[in-house]
Amino acid sequence: MNDQSPKAAGDDRVVIFDTTLRDGEQSPGASMNTAEKLQVARVLEEMGVDVIEAGFPIASEDDFHAVREIAKVVEGSVVCGLARAASADIDRCAEAIAPAARGRIHTFIGTSPLHRQFQLQLDQEQVHERVVQSVTRARGHTDDVEWSAMDASRTEADFLFRCIETAIRCGATTINIPDTVGYAYPEEFADLIRAIRDNVPNIDKAVISVHCHNDLGMAVANSLRAVQAGARQIECTINGIGERAGNAALEELVMAIKTRQDILPYQSRVDSREIMRASRMVSAFTGFAVQPNKAIVGANAFAHESGIHQDGVLKNAETYEIMRPEDVGLVKSNLVMGKHSGRHAFKTKLHELGYELGDNALEDAFVRFKALADKKKEIFDEDLVALVDDEIAAESQEIRFVDLYLQCGSKIKPTAELVLAIKDEQVRAVEVGDGPVDAIFNAIKVLYPHTAELQLFQIHAVTEGTDAQAIVSVRLAEDGRTVSAQAADTDTMVASARSYVAALNKLLTKRGKKAPAALSA
Ligand code: KIV
Ligand code: ZN
Repeated sequence: MNDQSPKAAGDDRVVIFDTTLRDGEQSPGASMNTAEKLQVARVLEEMGVDVIEAGFPIASEDDFHAVREIAKVVEGSVVCGLARAASADIDRCAEAIAPAARGRIHTFIGTSPLHRQFQLQLDQEQVHERVVQSVTRARGHTDDVEWSAMDASRTEADFLFRCIETAIRCGATTINIPDTVGYAYPEEFADLIRAIRDNVPNIDKAVISVHCHNDLGMAVANSLRAVQAGARQIECTINGIGERAGNAALEELVMAIKTRQDILPYQSRVDSREIMRASRMVSAFTGFAVQPNKAIVGANAFAHESGIHQDGVLKNAETYEIMRPEDVGLVKSNLVMGKHSGRHAFKTKLHELGYELGDNALEDAFVRFKALADKKKEIFDEDLVALVDDEIAAESQEIRFVDLYLQCGSKIKPTAELVLAIKDEQVRAVEVGDGPVDAIFNAIKVLYPHTAELQLFQIHAVTEGTDAQAIVSVRLAEDGRTVSAQAADTDTMVASARSYVAALNKLLTKRGKKAPAALSA
């Protein structure tokens, strides 16, 4: 048994199972390519996440490839793949996780009346039989098998207990109880966990896990209440991304446990100081901006604006702060960056901000930093974060922004001359449009023909002042798939071109994917 197993750990140990790369990435618009997923997996491993759900291997070649690549390199965390209750899914999943030092197959089936009748068209006996077949098959591949009762919180209790008992008898070592539709209420969900412990005779042979969606904003509360009732694994995502309103947010769970030891006397292995790094990376790769007032990782989460609060915090931080910013990785550094800063200072600064870039990415980021420092008097940490996030996201792109020349004004037709590199070959187009943004996007369409529709175009400033960088967010939709991306630059038009190109790259990743039937969670 490995040291991440809760059975080997003390009774107060809560296993953190991160599904950012599966349930998170599955949400509309939040796609990542394999290189991005690998970087996220490395950060999750470094931060001490116990189990990384790396993807759903049968969903596409890309998903399979990403899970397999992650399985090859991650050693400190269990690498898990998702599979429906079907032999082909389970075998494909086993193939993907095969290189892992410690691999897990997570197989699931809908157990609620609604799922049985409308999604699966199976009766109770047939679903029960699938539990036997799927867990037995998964167990033939690995001894680390997780079984999920999808829509468990709306399943008849007796049938749920019976399926759980069967899954454990067939070899499941983790039993996951999802609140798939985010319907549960904390007390009620805790009662369900207690009822499972009281009514499933062999429950002591498995770890109880919970997987809560946030449709009513109670995913974190439900998860924590479930832990108090005996669950010892929580499934969650960075920034709470995920289907619809998302999943329970990892950073909120970890910090709640750390901060409220008086009522949550549990331990997780997660190093909370890595939270900001993971949050920024996931936001940059998915193009999902973090709302400013988001708990723990929002830009305002530790900002004190009102005089009364500032006064109190200056006298004693604990007057208004229940957590220390440095505990989530927010370090205020004294290294001031400007146009005279060299490579070494730049690298040190990025390290302080939680970034470790490879040589090429570091060099590209440094060139952009120098260009920014020429344009902007003061370079704030936020500027560097935006610039580096951009650089990381651009690293593995097939289509890259190279150059833009624009003509516009009140008396001329806006014209964009754009240069892109497509698979490293430079191409140029000159196009007009109703406005400069339209002209740029038309030029992109000429250079890389596509049918995607622009669903969202949003601009906001990284810092204050007229020389501030702009972050442009773009959402594109094509054949029912949506992707989001963002990019930063002091020139809003350049940021617009970069973010559209970034979104287009994400669309290329998504094109290979089909949504397998009966996977709506
Ligand atoms: O929400 C859900 O039920 C899921 C399962 C696949 C665990 O994501
Ligand atoms: Zn889910």
